[in-house]
Amino acid sequence: MKFINTDMTRKYYFILILIIIIISSSCNPIHNKENKVEELLEQMTLEEKIGQMNQLMNFSPNIPIDSSFYQLIKNGKIGSILNAMSPEMIHEMQSIAVEESRLGIPLLVGRDIIHGYRTIFPVNIGLAATFNTELIKETTSIAAKEARSEGVNWTFAPMMDIARDPRWGRMVESCGEDPYLAEQMAIASIEGFQGKNLSNKNSIAATAKHFVGYGAAIGGRDYNSTLIPEIELRNVYLRPFKAAIDANVATVMSGFNDLNGVPTSGNVYTLREILKNEWNFNGFVISDWGSINNLQQHGYAKDEIDATIKALEAGVDMDMSSSLYLNNLKSLVDNGSVKEELINDAVRRILKIKLDLNLFENPYATNDNELLTEQALDIAKKTVIQSTVLLQNKNKTLPLSRNIKKVAVIGPLADAPHEQMGTWVFDGKSENVITPLNALKNFLGAERVNYAPGLKISRTRNKNGFADAIKAARNSDVVLLFMGDESILTGEAHCRAELTLPGYQNELIEEISKLGKPTILVMMTGVIHMVEPYLDKVDALLYGWHPGTMGGPGYVDLLFGIESPSGKLPMTFPRTEGQIPIYYSHNNTGHPASDESWVRMYDIPVKAWQTSLGNTNHYLDYGLEPLFEFGFGLSYTEFSYSDIKLSNKAITMSDSLIISTTIKNTGGYQAEDVAQLYIRDLVGSIVRPIKELKRFKRIRLNPGEEKTIEFVLYPKDLEFHNGEEWLIEPGEFNIWVGNSSKAELESKFELK
Ligand code: NOJ
Repeated sequence: MKFINTDMTRKYYFILILIIIIISSSCNPIHNKENKVEELLEQMTLEEKIGQMNQLMNFSPNIPIDSSFYQLIKNGKIGSILNAMSPEMIHEMQSIAVEESRLGIPLLVGRDIIHGYRTIFPVNIGLAATFNTELIKETTSIAAKEARSEGVNWTFAPMMDIARDPRWGRMVESCGEDPYLAEQMAIASIEGFQGKNLSNKNSIAATAKHFVGYGAAIGGRDYNSTLIPEIELRNVYLRPFKAAIDANVATVMSGFNDLNGVPTSGNVYTLREILKNEWNFNGFVISDWGSINNLQQHGYAKDEIDATIKALEAGVDMDMSSSLYLNNLKSLVDNGSVKEELINDAVRRILKIKLDLNLFENPYATNDNELLTEQALDIAKKTVIQSTVLLQNKNKTLPLSRNIKKVAVIGPLADAPHEQMGTWVFDGKSENVITPLNALKNFLGAERVNYAPGLKISRTRNKNGFADAIKAARNSDVVLLFMGDESILTGEAHCRAELTLPGYQNELIEEISKLGKPTILVMMTGVIHMVEPYLDKVDALLYGWHPGTMGGPGYVDLLFGIESPSGKLPMTFPRTEGQIPIYYSHNNTGHPASDESWVRMYDIPVKAWQTSLGNTNHYLDYGLEPLFEFGFGLSYTEFSYSDIKLSNKAITMSDSLIISTTIKNTGGYQAEDVAQLYIRDLVGSIVRPIKELKRFKRIRLNPGEEKTIEFVLYPKDLEFHNGEEWLIEPGEFNIWVGNSSKAELESKFELK
């Protein structure tokens, strides 16, 4: 029998385990990253830490950059740059940070890549109209690859503000009015930008913005105050953000608005309590442009020092362009007004994202020459096709016959490459854009196209071009009107009280309509216009948004029936601005509006007795209905929805519910439709919306073909916040499927 020295054995075991722990922790990338962050933090001076929290833009286009900016980077006083003038400038700045600064910490290179980088996709409200998350993911993945190939590693997108007021210029950057649609689009965008892993050489960090409530600006005027009760904040405005955090978005941007009296860039409740504590967000928060400084204009901070402290304490980790952190934090730590621990926390978060992006190994442009590839252009065209919404098609005017002899092409947007790219385009180039005019000439041959814009730009206020436009229309078999807005009339700080076509576009439409030719209006804009007056004047109306690089070819496929339109409205189209805000998912009142109860203004007897006359909560002059409802969009074919079946009439909290329906293409064209599922929680401990979108699915069907599709719902999908907590309440629910928010095919189930 061998002699066993148990003491020795224990010692060996102990050493073995220690070795295993050391090896395994050194192979664990999370530990490695944490170690690297701590190592760096230990080496950093307080000034260098504060430098990481500072983001600046260099406005001079000169290379080499001027000496003051150079010194800031070299001395570790800038952690990130934004919206640099050129790839060469990005390279120069990054090399100063990596090669000349003391610790060689790379810069985050931020940029507004909002709907494409060099390949420009339709503006975001158009992308939302595709109701196609896979497609959205492809667009952001293309944008990321293109951006990284020129040295950009961070985008300030996706914007996920809910927009229920079309007067708000930034609705163009949003996914519209619905929190579920916005949430699904946000997840898809983030997955595309960030890839499977941020360290992938083609991934860029995404930003969930603007946290939070910015879209509720009173009166739709940009930067205005927002007043959002907790119930609505949780159930509507915060929802896409929560989804973004769950999808691992790297950064969050605070907003310009004050929310219930507290500016969102100094808001302890939303940033510190909800985002960082309740949701455990472990990326970092960047302010919006100068929004820390703006705490003073809001009257929320008495001076720069106060603004700096309030923003930091609220949880803003990086200061976009106001330099307040850079100028004030050191003395505030030195005099004990700010705890260094707050700074360490912010810097840890920023360094983590830099490590996640693998910037220490790959700080520079990939130079992959990935711009405007064939695949990118194909996807861009597909997004135009799927985002364009057919709002009217009298007498099946569309699609046009390919044998048509002559087409008149009229309107200020028919050949305006810069304008059709839309707002927030820094990197798209006009020379890469195919306009409707050029695409039509390619398709039909130049000799079959009579082009006369009628108006030079969208705001032209003279009729000098009308005679030529009318002549072109007279000499043609069909008239195509490309009307809309220059891109600068949409977007940030470009809100409108009147949502009508600028310049003399209305007059031009009027004149052309008198000719009695088949007339198709294509609206190219980022704004929701009051289009009701045009419905009588034109035969067909395509809402084509600002479509980006491939607008022309996408429209041609739609106009000539190579593809059928399949876009659906992500926002309700009002009849008049006076109906705003108007959205499908509202609560019921105690006097629910109905068409039957509407006593028209001119039908009210003179000196009628003071009663409601049966009127409910609608307008005497405009009633209650919008012009086009959320989710609406026509096709060249028709679809019928039938046979709604539920896997159970009642489910428990641990069950799921399968809803199936059969969709048939009953018309003559192969086409896609977006099947939409809505629910209503009939009785709740608080009032619940009359309809809520819960699922959607795109399907393609040949003429005569039918398919049965399934949706699965979980009790979690029925959850709502009552202002204090999240609840899933037992009770009865209505359920509808169809192809707009007016879906009528109905069933019911009970949650036990
Ligand atoms: C201000 C805008 O609100 C924000 O969305 C954008 O990302 C920044 N400027 C940077 O350009």
